[in-house]
Amino acid sequence: MDLINKERLWGTINDLATITMEDQPWTRRSFTAKYNEGREWLMKQMRDSGLEVEIDEGSNVIGRLIGTEPNLPPIVIGSHTDTVPNGGRFDGIAGVLAGLEIVRAIKENDIPVKHTIEVVDFTSEEPSEYGLSTVGSRAWSGNLTEEMLSYTNPAGQTLSEAIAYAGGNPSHIKNCKKEKGSIALYLELHIEQGPVLLRNNASLGVVTGIVGIQRYKVTVDGLPNHSGTTPMNMRNDALTAASEMTLALESVANGKFDQPVVGTVGVFNNFPNASNVVPGKVEFAVEIRSISEKAIDEVGSEFLSKVEEIALKREVKIKTENVSRSGAIVISNEIKQLLKESCSSITEKVIELPSGAGHDANQMSLLAPVGMIFIPCKDGRSHCPEEWAEKEDFYFGAKAMLQAVLAFSK
Ligand code: GLV
Ligand code: MN
Ligand code: MN
Ligand code: MN
Repeated sequence: MDLINKERLWGTINDLATITMEDQPWTRRSFTAKYNEGREWLMKQMRDSGLEVEIDEGSNVIGRLIGTEPNLPPIVIGSHTDTVPNGGRFDGIAGVLAGLEIVRAIKENDIPVKHTIEVVDFTSEEPSEYGLSTVGSRAWSGNLTEEMLSYTNPAGQTLSEAIAYAGGNPSHIKNCKKEKGSIALYLELHIEQGPVLLRNNASLGVVTGIVGIQRYKVTVDGLPNHSGTTPMNMRNDALTAASEMTLALESVANGKFDQPVVGTVGVFNNFPNASNVVPGKVEFAVEIRSISEKAIDEVGSEFLSKVEEIALKREVKIKTENVSRSGAIVISNEIKQLLKESCSSITEKVIELPSGAGHDANQMSLLAPVGMIFIPCKDGRSHCPEEWAEKEDFYFGAKAMLQAVLAFSK
């Protein structure tokens, strides 16, 4: 029997994908009015589907379908509805709306499921203007510290204020922290965001592990001065120093480690950013990712010592801040097997693959067994407006996830 309604799933994905900021198609930055508007839409869909709806202290949106044995820990299906700047249509919303379609299918077909199912839109999975990612799932895992709540955006507002704006209650954030074992299973459907499924002509991917992510903020203080009158050998140029540090990260991450590593400087702010001023200050954001914690540590410490060296040589001051760390995770054989069986019952074209992208599943792995299913995306592209995935593949992914829920809940 076809329980998942392919057209309805595709319709809801497109409806939410088009609630976006005026100047950037497909973009819904966390903690903006558009983000709240998208989540209002989502909550209405949840209510209209007969779910109990709640926004918790971490401003996570939760829609709950009560199971036939309500004392059992719930199955959580989730992801996020925020996007990166100039983002794409599907990163994040696929997992939330597949969850919604799954509970709709269960409800309208009167399928008895023992576990309560919670469909969750976790707050700000992407790095926001406050520098932190996976904010809502951190609130659940207990990894959202007081210090993080005081991180500020460039306008000087705190993350705590942002969470309140999104409907949360940051002064009671600890109330939404979950205990390990209080969730039976966490499942997330996501577009792959890379080329591996396409290259293997696969329709579904069972995720084997997810990279850990280390983020630093580096501030370089030089000496602003007149660009015409300051000789080349008498400058303390913050920008050239920061540039050398960026190149150092690239070369360190290109080294040999037990697993592949990537290192990226994706934010680079120059002050005062005027053509006739020797740059006085640069702030930049560094990210290091790998499936190997050891490799992340090695690249991190080598990079930080290069930063010291370069600062000394160029006579600039530096401040390095440890913004966040999320641990790499390995998906258990049991969950991989559950998902492999459910995916293989839908299509023969199933492969296993690791995830180079971070997900709310990283934080959820501290609380529950987690599993992820990937679907292919066009040209392997994501975090850009060209991001695209096919209706049929969302349908396959949701079908496979529903199968997994029913098999787990037997
Ligand atoms: C999320 O999209 C990430 O991997 O940063
Ligand atoms: Mn993303
Ligand atoms: Mn995502
Ligand atoms: Mn992500």
